[in-house]
Amino acid sequence: MSKKPVARKPDPSTTGHEWDGIREFDNPMPRWWLWTFYLTIIWGIGYTVLYPAWPLVNGVTHGLWGFSTRQEVAADIKAFADRNAPIEAKLVATNLTDIAKDPDLANYTQNAGHAIFLTWCAQCHGAGAGGAKGFPNLLDNDWLWGGTIDNIHTTITHGIRNTTDPDARFSQMPAFGEILTPEEIDQVANHVLAISGQPNDAGLAAAGTKIFADNCASCHGEDGKGNREFGAPNLTDAIWLYGGDPATIKETVTKARFGVMPAWQGRLTEAQIRAVASYVHGLGGGE
Ligand code: HEC
Ligand code: HEC
Repeated sequence: MSKKPVARKPDPSTTGHEWDGIREFDNPMPRWWLWTFYLTIIWGIGYTVLYPAWPLVNGVTHGLWGFSTRQEVAADIKAFADRNAPIEAKLVATNLTDIAKDPDLANYTQNAGHAIFLTWCAQCHGAGAGGAKGFPNLLDNDWLWGGTIDNIHTTITHGIRNTTDPDARFSQMPAFGEILTPEEIDQVANHVLAISGQPNDAGLAAAGTKIFADNCASCHGEDGKGNREFGAPNLTDAIWLYGGDPATIKETVTKARFGVMPAWQGRLTEAQIRAVASYVHGLGGGE
């Protein structure tokens, strides 16, 4: 005969749950725990009533106290703007060429200009303004479009070859891959190597001299020293925007280049443009 399983009566002090003989007590929660729990609920309700909390379809609940870190930031920014307003007004009213002569303005433009440069210009020109391939070094005295404070101010205000500012500086080197034969490109590239004082094939370079005069001199000048009216680089110095090795020169001549810089008017205030123009002008290469 099989033994009948003995049904154990649930112990009133347990929940009746049992795992492998281990039973669960049904003790009340400790009081301190419960009170803490109730307090967090009250705190939570209070918080969502007083502070911004619940997302809505358009925006959020703002809370009775109207607390907003964005407003605090806006107030801080306004306080700074108010403090800088007099010197910025003076900066805008001063002739560009006189800014560096005024100690207050010189000091202000160095500091504000540096901050603006790091925020808006360093991505392309480098934090130290040393440039990169296709992005000119602003520390040297080799300028594509001119290094006077007026030139720099114009370049920054309108930008270069962008489509947004009708007054942007503009020029376009043709892609000579569609105009010259590969042999002629090789010849003119050797001419560029020759005038920049680099090793070259004298025979090819000699043949390239006429090609240069016919096709390139109109922008880069008879002597290859460049022309700021077109932002055409000086090809005789050791400073290269894209690169002076034979392969890069041939690539430039075959496909051409089209360096674009955004316009900053509209994005920066006139005072900010003047500050960063003065800063760049003072970096060492200003004229
Ligand atoms: C998106 C990249 C980019 C940003 C951002 C940028 N630039 Fe440029 N900048 C260029 C390029 C590319 C050129 C060269 C264009 C060309 O080939 O002529 C240039 C040229 C210049 C020149 C002319 C240099 C010369 O030799 O004549 C100046 C001055 C200049 N930038 C200043 C600034 C300042 C100041 C800022 C910040 C307010 C800035 N740039 C932001 C890309 C940029
Ligand atoms: C319509 C004017 C124009 C003509 C014509 C022209 N160039 Fe250019 N060239 C430019 C401009 C502008 C740039 C700079 C492009 C840029 O900044 O993106 C340039 C850039 C270059 C560069 C790059 C320089 C560097 O520092 O990296 C080389 C090399 C060059 N040109 C060679 C030539 C040769 C060789 C010819 C003739 C076969 C020629 N160019 C004809 C306007 C011209």
